[in-house]
Amino acid sequence: MSTAVYPGTFDPITYGHIDVAERAAKVFSELIILVMNNRAKAQTMFSVEERVSMIRNVFSNIPNIRISSYHGLLVDYARSTGHNVIIRGLRAVSDFEYEMTMAAANRRMYDPFDTFFLMTDTKYSFISSSLVKEIAVNGGKIDPWVPESVKWEILKKIEN
Ligand code: COA
Repeated sequence: MSTAVYPGTFDPITYGHIDVAERAAKVFSELIILVMNNRAKAQTMFSVEERVSMIRNVFSNIPNIRISSYHGLLVDYARSTGHNVIIRGLRAVSDFEYEMTMAAANRRMYDPFDTFFLMTDTKYSFISSSLVKEIAVNGGKIDPWVPESVKWEILKKIEN
């Protein structure tokens, strides 16, 4: 059984992430979407539990996608679970340097670690979670970028 892990902050998950996850789930027999914290993003809109719950909802109809969360280093997760194959999406050349640095650092810390990259569909190559939140906070329509269930969670947060 080949398992891959798709880690990210997912604050919140967008159609760009969903596109990558669905394609990875066709290649690997099991895909674990791993909700983590990125120290550079200290202020998330959603807690880890909220992000996990939103993502579960989105993938409830795909049986080989499992959702989990982890606090700490990704390599420690890989070491403790034996899941060494990591999926990341690349949207544009601008993602490359960041992703290459992370993949190299992870590999250096834990040799069996391998990162597989999937190109995000060009329809979603310019969106990001921050952009979606920015549009929503300013009253713009976010329907093209996030599923309905995620949209409502964002709107609820903005109202509170
Ligand atoms: N489509 C659309 N947007 C995408 C995307 C895609 N396919 N892939 C990434 N993005 C966007 C996200 O929306 C997000 O936007 P934002 O910056 O506005 O929030 C950004 O690109 C990247 O976010 P995401 O993919 O959710 O993850 P991340 O880069 O925040 O996650 C971790 C990085 C969590 C994997 C990394 O910080 C980590 O491993 N942390 C654990 C600690 C650790 O091991 N650190 C050492 C790393 S060497």
